Amino acid sequence: MKDYESLFVQTAWKIMEELHRASSTAEGLSACLNSLCEALSCDQGSVWVSDSSGDHLLSMAERGSAYHIGMRIEKGKGAAGRAAISGEPIYINGGEDRGLLTDVERDAGLPEKALLWVPLRTRHGVLGCVQLGRHDTDFTPDDRRIAARCGSIIALDLEEKGIDFLPDVLRRPLLSFRNVTREYENGDRTIRALNRVSLDIYEKELLAILGESGSGKSTLLNLIGCMDRPTEGQILVDGKDFSAPTEDEMTEYRRSTIGFVFQSYNLMPTLTALENIRFIGEISDKPMDAEEALSLVGLSERANHFPSALSGGQQQRVAIARAIAKSPRLILADEPTAALDYETGKEVLQVLQAAVKKSGATLVIVTHNTEIAKIANRVIRMKDGKILGVHINPNPLPASELSW
Ligand SMILES: Nc1ncnc2c1ncn2[C@@H]1O[C@H](COP(=O)(O)OP(=O)(O)O)[C@@H](O)[C@H]1O
Ligand SMILES: [Mg+2]
Repeated sequence: MKDYESLFVQTAWKIMEELHRASSTAEGLSACLNSLCEALSCDQGSVWVSDSSGDHLLSMAERGSAYHIGMRIEKGKGAAGRAAISGEPIYINGGEDRGLLTDVERDAGLPEKALLWVPLRTRHGVLGCVQLGRHDTDFTPDDRRIAARCGSIIALDLEEKGIDFLPDVLRRPLLSFRNVTREYENGDRTIRALNRVSLDIYEKELLAILGESGSGKSTLLNLIGCMDRPTEGQILVDGKDFSAPTEDEMTEYRRSTIGFVFQSYNLMPTLTALENIRFIGEISDKPMDAEEALSLVGLSERANHFPSALSGGQQQRVAIARAIAKSPRLILADEPTAALDYETGKEVLQVLQAAVKKSGATLVIVTHNTEIAKIANRVIRMKDGKILGVHINPNPLPASELSW
């Protein structure tokens, strides 16, 4: 009994602090969900909140293999929908039936899970619910009581402060992937580099794609950048189907929408720094002034140098200026600091972060470095061609504060 009380008090305290500190509802809920999951040894969870219309629930935080942030479900439908109407917790013991596992979990050989939904309930009504899941062990009555009481604390806070729907959540996605698969034929072997990936990328977010070498990050980025087509599945751009574009449509999309930053800089060796940037400006609809772009990355003095006369870090800064100068909606950076030493890499990240912020573009950065992912608003973890989890980062760090 004593253990139960102290775990509850500890968790409740943490949750209250997190709600107090958070600058938006989604940040607060994301932090609370992580604390609850840690306290109750859950590897998976989500928080659903009544949307403004009142008859749907909106997923505003999640942990683990779910990827339905921004998804809506009808109230009354499914366990989450029922918990939010009745205000009563729902509890499912996994048992022998493996039907509760997601594809990712089943492939990973995880044992069946137990699931729990607790309402976000105050005296005035039910605002939504928290869903928790864990493998191997069932929830004890104490676990369920802790979850229910923490749910009430969260609900009180939402009631008091009101719910601000983070733009992330309600904003229309720039790009959506639905069950996208990409296979490569390699001799008589088929390599499934991307396996039924679903993902939304929102306007103005900084999204990190994190995963070990071979996990499918570059394959995903190439599809986002329309340098490649999916084998199966749907891709939507601004809500319109773009799953099977023609070569011309792909070129046009890359030209008008995307700025690339590669690990290997890819500058034209026969053009100066300034000319490399101007060159891209010429094929853009609304280019930024090349000199201005170069000054944004702090290289005005090197305008007339050829790439061979620039250090690796300086070349990458030119590449960043080149990407920004197109005024693209989406900047894609694949391991942009992997070829650089620590200090230079950090400098380049700072330049990238500042330049992207100034331009108002969305940045998708691919990295295998968990430290670098801390600059992102959202982090996607990949493994074996699948998304393992999406995490909203309540406090993205300035690149200057990273160390690895
Ligand atoms: N063009 C290709 N032909 C065959 N296999 C490929 C090709 N590109 C990637 N792969 C394979 O797909 C998987 C994912 O690769 P990739 O997306 O490059 O991963 P990451 O960028 O995370 O290192 C790997 O097993 C890789 O060997
Ligand atoms: Mg790669």
